[in-house]
Amino acid sequence: MLHLREPEQMREWSRSQRHSGSTIALVPTMGALHDGHLSLVSLAAEHADRVVVSLFVNPAQFGEGEDLASYPRDRERDVRLLSDLPVDVLFLPVESDLYPEDYSTWVEETSISRLWEGAARPEHFRGVTTIVTRLLLAVEPDLLILGQKDAQQVAVVRKMMRDLLIPAEVVTGPIVRESDGLALSSRNVYLSEDERGQAVCLSEALAEARRLVSGGEGDPAVVLQRMRERVGQEPDARLDYVAALDPLTFDPVDTLRGNILFCLAVHIGETRLIDNDIIDAEA
Ligand code: PAF
Repeated sequence: MLHLREPEQMREWSRSQRHSGSTIALVPTMGALHDGHLSLVSLAAEHADRVVVSLFVNPAQFGEGEDLASYPRDRERDVRLLSDLPVDVLFLPVESDLYPEDYSTWVEETSISRLWEGAARPEHFRGVTTIVTRLLLAVEPDLLILGQKDAQQVAVVRKMMRDLLIPAEVVTGPIVRESDGLALSSRNVYLSEDERGQAVCLSEALAEARRLVSGGEGDPAVVLQRMRERVGQEPDARLDYVAALDPLTFDPVDTLRGNILFCLAVHIGETRLIDNDIIDAEA
């Protein structure tokens, strides 16, 4: 596994691979890797000849008062985990490479990114779309591999790439969960033991939605109310939002027909967690 730091070196490597006929998949990460990330690396290797994993904690996607300073960082462990996987390049840019002092250009999607996560975290998606664009320009991959856990990020990045005619294809990997249903997230390490127990309310609220929808419930308000009630059973849980959405536009639906994205964001103590599930209301 080659370690590259400078965007220009990265691009040179990619171009030489493409010249010799190889396809390239990029798995962008902020490190603090878990099995969800590792499953994306395996997915990348299934779809492309060469795999690049980028590791960069992107300050621009953290709002004021968010956890940039405390975001878990363990480079040695990340490198160890990746060295058992089919990774060709670990791209490790530093802040001054990606955001030099005079940096002044931002990439902003202005529709989907204003809703839900974007409403709760203004500027978050602007930071994401800017860094993803820079990574795409440095790596020039054929495929961009993203996790479905961040469903809205996937939708915003897809829209941004379509709007800007960025030719890479987006491939998504399913959410990876603990045995009790908690979706893997780098932020789960913030949870105390007690909070970790309570955090299962997100996946259980989604499981309740699935039960209701497959039982024929057609009114999103009924399902969302039951999800709220499940979250409300935990003493340290504070619901940020719960929604039943069109998975492409992220607009709320008023009847349950076809594929519906159920998603929620919940504070468990100080930790904000998100989860989602696409449920086929006709299945
Ligand atoms: O999903 C993440 O870890 C980040 O938002 C990403 C895509 C690596 C951009 O910093």
